[in-house]
Amino acid sequence: MKLSKIMLLAVALMVLISAQATAAGDAAAGEAKSQACAGCHGAAGVSAMTSFPILAGQFEDYLFNALSQYKSGERKNAIMTGIASGLSKQDMRDLAAYYTALEGVYSLNLPE
Ligand code: HEC
Repeated sequence: MKLSKIMLLAVALMVLISAQATAAGDAAAGEAKSQACAGCHGAAGVSAMTSFPILAGQFEDYLFNALSQYKSGERKNAIMTGIASGLSKQDMRDLAAYYTALEGVYSLNLPE
């Protein structure tokens, strides 16, 4: 009786973990999709111009949420709303997984 409960719990846990795995982003797929972003955000997510935010090294959930919010209209920007409208949830997860894995910019060059 006790053992079957443990087994049931183990199965439930496995289902939960595998469901999360399918929802996770695929960085390799994100890299392929990032071609459309490189013109503004830079080839490795570090843009040369301050008007385009650096995406490299940003938190994964932040990136995903930002893209979701452009698509839903919660966050407004003429350029990004247009771009995000063509992205699926999986595209956003893949892109977020790709950019978060890149090396960010750690030197802020703050005045002394
Ligand atoms: C034509 C230029 C352009 C392209 C192409 C572009 N972006 Fe952007 N992106 C911007 C600008 C400008 C902003 C700043 C908008 C704002 O102030 O909200 C931005 C903001 C963002 C942000 C929010 C960053 C932050 O720090 O809050 C994310 C995430 C993002 N873009 C992802 C992408 C992805 C992923 C793609 C490709 C699918 C892409 N962008 C393509 C111009 C672009």
